[in-house]
Amino acid sequence: MCGIVGYVSSVAPREADHVALDVLLQGLGRLEYRGYDSAGVAVVTPDGQLGARKRAGKLQNLLDEVEAQPLPVAQTGIGHTRWATHGGPTDQNAHPHLADDGKLAVIHNGIIENFAQLRQGLAADGVEFESETDTEIAAHQLAKNHRATGDLTEAMRVTVGQLEGAFTLLAVHADAPDTVVAARLNSPLVIGLGEGENFLGSDVAAFIDHTRRAVEIGQNQIVTITPDSVSIIDADGHAVEGEPFDVDWDPATAEKGGFESFMDKEIHDQPQAVADTLLGRFGLDGRLQLSEMNIDESLLKSVDKIVVIACGTAAYAGQVAKYAIEHWCRIPTEVELAHEFRYRDPVVNEKTLVVAVSQSGETMDTLMAVRHARQQGAKVIAICNTFGSTIPRESDGVLYTHAGPEIAVASTKAFLSQVVACYLLGLYLAQLRGNKYSDEIRVILDELEAIPAKIQRILDETKPQVTQFAQANKDVSSVLFLGRHVGYPVAMEGALKLKELAYIHAEGFAAGELKHGPIALIDEGQMVIIVVPSKKGRDSLHAKVLSNIQEVRARGANTVVIAEEGSTEVEEFASQVFYVPETTTLLAPLLATVPLQVFAMDLATAKNLDVDQPRNLAKSVTVE
Ligand code: M6R
Repeated sequence: MCGIVGYVSSVAPREADHVALDVLLQGLGRLEYRGYDSAGVAVVTPDGQLGARKRAGKLQNLLDEVEAQPLPVAQTGIGHTRWATHGGPTDQNAHPHLADDGKLAVIHNGIIENFAQLRQGLAADGVEFESETDTEIAAHQLAKNHRATGDLTEAMRVTVGQLEGAFTLLAVHADAPDTVVAARLNSPLVIGLGEGENFLGSDVAAFIDHTRRAVEIGQNQIVTITPDSVSIIDADGHAVEGEPFDVDWDPATAEKGGFESFMDKEIHDQPQAVADTLLGRFGLDGRLQLSEMNIDESLLKSVDKIVVIACGTAAYAGQVAKYAIEHWCRIPTEVELAHEFRYRDPVVNEKTLVVAVSQSGETMDTLMAVRHARQQGAKVIAICNTFGSTIPRESDGVLYTHAGPEIAVASTKAFLSQVVACYLLGLYLAQLRGNKYSDEIRVILDELEAIPAKIQRILDETKPQVTQFAQANKDVSSVLFLGRHVGYPVAMEGALKLKELAYIHAEGFAAGELKHGPIALIDEGQMVIIVVPSKKGRDSLHAKVLSNIQEVRARGANTVVIAEEGSTEVEEFASQVFYVPETTTLLAPLLATVPLQVFAMDLATAKNLDVDQPRNLAKSVTVE
């Protein structure tokens, strides 16, 4: 939540050549998916003038504002795009917040928990506040410490010691025109290294147009960047080394590439995302190798329980993993929402393998659960899409998905690649523990390798039908989704997509649960979308879902079915059928999910809603 960018450069700006402002606004454009209820920038000129602009609403409002009210030409600055926590999305509450008579500017991501107490102290000093935010308190506290120490880095170090909560802070001061100082405590921040310029960002997308050399910063550390230097200190003021890494994302992958929306592009990226997540996982002997996991094989052999922790869509990927891992490895596997796991005293120990699934690697609920699991002695493997993010960094091992940057708030390609990574983990454990022979594993891997072409076929053949159907049904007010077995998390994912994009009531149910209550919701014309399992291999599952379709149809439901090609028997019970290519039951979520993503996106588009930036949401949820 909240996108943060900082920039310093030694390039002397020509008159009207806005080095810093251009970089900041470009970075904010890349980060807008992290929060988009207001945005702002502050720049400092070489002769020590600080100028700031901020506006409620989307980034475009800020762009209009800087055009109408130009800022002084500068080489140093900070920029922010906000997802509101303290105080509504207004001009006043937008960042940056100024202190020290407008000489200091601060931007912030996260929550300062002791802000009320600090506010009292500052008010007693005579400070007058202009906003309702906790950030403004941090700005004034930093200004106070700056007056006392005369040094922005030291002032930031002292301030961080006085703040409680989880936050990233960036500050510039008119007295230090070539410096940006930042602090990180349980909130994301990475450094971008340039030649004669350096960057800070909530994630690498902030500076990917300029450099792919990045440095990770640890918790409770303070970083100071100038055009030619980067220095990091810990809470005691001791110098520490950051961990450099190279970003393998291509800036072009963070562009819409001719699609109407990032979501549309990311749906179309899915064949590649799945293929890339499978890439390079085999040793010379043809055996599955997950060396990046970095966990001792003997430990993995002795695991007696797996707990998958995640939130939202990532948790649905975890639910698919449960079916696959239990079936292939015979290891009891639980899936739990990270925020519930963290606060219920779960039974985990040295023999528990915890799998934390997160696209961003920054979801605070998941991060807290990771820490809790490790404190209890469990080993944690992260399944993550973002290099240099916190969750992999704090886990024992990591399995990266290679979906590339996911910009649209609604997760699509990240979900499919998380599911693939979970399958790989399950197959690897089965190989290691001898639950499956290598030729059995090879058969499943061959089928996995065939999935990208099958997704492509859905995009080419089924997608246009789904689009037409979504447009024709744009006024639907409630949709129920049903599935069994791995179709159940797919149903919940379909409902989540529709809720977050089209703002209509949608629920996903286990089809077998229907008669235990939810069937009371079925009324004449109620739309019910049913994910039908393959009839091959799990015939009883298929037959049971057909019965469930008949149950709702008999009560007046408008039944829409996602079924495997060749399952023509479903047509009798459905007003609309969308066919997907055949695959095995366990891998079916990789195909059945795609029409549901398209349905939600196109229905929301038909309602003229912003599918990339739905209301009230942010891509990366960095507060608990
Ligand atoms: O970055 P993460 O995978 O940890 O994010 C978890 C959820 O916040 C995320 O999947 C969310 O539910 C998406 N908006 C769903 O489309």
